Amino acid sequence: MNQYIAPTASVGDNTILGHNIVIMDNVEIGEDCVLGCNVVIHDNVKIGSGCRIDDNTIIGKKPMFSPRSIFKDQNNWSPTIIGDNCLIGANVIIYIQCEIGNNNLIADMATIRENVKIHDYNIIGRGVAIENYCTIGNRNKLETNVYLTAYSTVEDYCFVAPCVATSNDNYAGRDKERFKHFKGITMKRGARIGVGSIVLPGKTLNEDCLVAGASLVSKDVPEKEIWIGSPAKYSKPVPDSQLLDNNQDKKE
Ligand SMILES: CC(C)(COP(=O)(O)OP(=O)(O)OC[C@H]1O[C@@H](n2cnc3c(N)ncnc32)[C@H](O)[C@@H]1OP(=O)(O)O)[C@@H](O)C(=O)NCCC(=O)NCCS
Repeated sequence: MNQYIAPTASVGDNTILGHNIVIMDNVEIGEDCVLGCNVVIHDNVKIGSGCRIDDNTIIGKKPMFSPRSIFKDQNNWSPTIIGDNCLIGANVIIYIQCEIGNNNLIADMATIRENVKIHDYNIIGRGVAIENYCTIGNRNKLETNVYLTAYSTVEDYCFVAPCVATSNDNYAGRDKERFKHFKGITMKRGARIGVGSIVLPGKTLNEDCLVAGASLVSKDVPEKEIWIGSPAKYSKPVPDSQLLDNNQDKKE
């Protein structure tokens, strides 16, 4: 089988590796993992036990910096660490300096930029893009093609429907003043946002709120309220039956 496994790398018992796999220096992979074909694991990455990583996925990629990029290269990147029992689909790219916990599902073609922290039991859908410096708590669902802008925080039990887009720069790329004001979005525990909605920079979706599909969030959304429209406005309270604390199954 055509494989490159650096002599300094370690691969646990019962871990199966596909064709054309590349495992670089000092990588550590736990037991009982299955890695597909063409998977590339860059230097120093640590992967726990019981993980599945499908074809063509890259873990530990360094970001690229254009002379025009806001962020600059550094020479002291720390390695990406992935916990136990994660399912990582095909053509996923997870950049360097990420911390991914246990029992996460990261579906095909998702991209997770450097300096992202993802805790446990999350579902990151197909094609989701999570930009740098985001933090995702526990048991969230980010569905297909969500775009999560840099410097965002998603706490626990949040739901982000397909194609939601978020933003962090009210100056839209002009005026040096913008560098002082970059701010991603914040989703508090149990916040939900409907399909195709847009969230403007720095907005907070408070606990257990619901933003309707195709809304434009231009103000913070108070807890346990449904907001609808463009710009989104108060519609009614979230029904008791949908509150997180009344949905025990959602908390498991
Ligand atoms: C917000 C929401 C929950 C409201 O549902 P509802 O209480 O059953 O509302 P209704 O269908 O009775 O509609 C009430 C009114 O609001 C309007 N409305 C409902 N949703 C709307 C939306 N997303 N944007 C604009 N108007 C909306 C309806 O047209 C109706 O208007 P009318 O009173 O003039 O006839 C629902 O419409 C929604 O957007 N759900 C999110 C779906 C989603 O993205 N799911 C994610 C997984 S795929």
